[in-house]
Amino acid sequence: MAKTNSSSLKVLITRPISDAGLSILNKERYQLITNLSERPLRHKELSRKVKDVDAILCFLNDNIDKEIMDIAGPNLKIISTFSTGYEHIDMIEARKRNIRVGYTGSILTETTADLAFGLMLCIGRRIVEGDKLVREGEWKYGWSPDLMIGTDIHGKTLGIIGMGKIGTAIATRAQGFGMKILYTNRKPVTKSKMKNRRLNFENIKYRDLNDLAKESDYVIICCSLNRESYHLIDNNFLSQMKKSAFLINIARGKIVNQKDLISALRSKVIAGAALDVYEDEPIEKNNKLVGMENVVLLPHIGSASQDTRNKMSELAALNIIHVLRGQYENALLIE
Ligand code: DGY
Repeated sequence: MAKTNSSSLKVLITRPISDAGLSILNKERYQLITNLSERPLRHKELSRKVKDVDAILCFLNDNIDKEIMDIAGPNLKIISTFSTGYEHIDMIEARKRNIRVGYTGSILTETTADLAFGLMLCIGRRIVEGDKLVREGEWKYGWSPDLMIGTDIHGKTLGIIGMGKIGTAIATRAQGFGMKILYTNRKPVTKSKMKNRRLNFENIKYRDLNDLAKESDYVIICCSLNRESYHLIDNNFLSQMKKSAFLINIARGKIVNQKDLISALRSKVIAGAALDVYEDEPIEKNNKLVGMENVVLLPHIGSASQDTRNKMSELAALNIIHVLRGQYENALLIE
């Protein structure tokens, strides 16, 4: 029987969220079951908490599969992920059961594009290496003609893999820096769409993946992870890149064959990489990438600005409220 009183509705929140979203859920007087630990729940722990819930507010680290949906049972109406990616949710099973899946859509686009650009600056201009040199007392002679020589950003060619919202936001930044822009996508973006996205399309050119590899000085990966993009970047791609070029990944680790990347970095097939994401997260302390100098490594923080995380928290909460009230048109749902 449908529950009419919101205080009888159970919402599982798999990790603590900021007050921006929590206060909204509290106002609805749901029964909140919250994992207060920073550590993501193990699958077993998750399955123990999920029984009979009406909604799950989850994160990228939660594997919401058939088993979890089975244990949750028929009350479950919405899985609201605090993320834009949703590859951790079994969409086929969710659709079968008519469970809605909410996500954070394009709210994090600009913040993630900022970080991608920051990574490009860091790896090209050796910003992290320079910081380390100063801190470790290795800066010996003041200004030096050959100290920390890097690679320009302006005037260089940027290859964007995936010209969706984040790719476009990176392209607008790159235009401001006077870069030449190439992109690859499922299909070329029409000129009118580029105009709508405020891009000066005259210097943005479509390339297939191989040509993009050959011509770019910097390659930024910002496509989503799916069957076609899994290990899209492998030996074949890397060996076609310029020896002086850099790879930047702010999308998903599994788009890159990490073994192939490590060997390309070791044997200087490419000049370096700046990564926010990895095949398995977190990477181990003894991962080969950690010992390399020609890499910049971040802990998956593409969307991690206070404003954006507050908006994500709010949206993840609102998606639950809208669906539990039956106001589907107000929720941001995966089609
Ligand atoms: C997402 O939302 O998909 C990001 O990777 C997390 O910030």
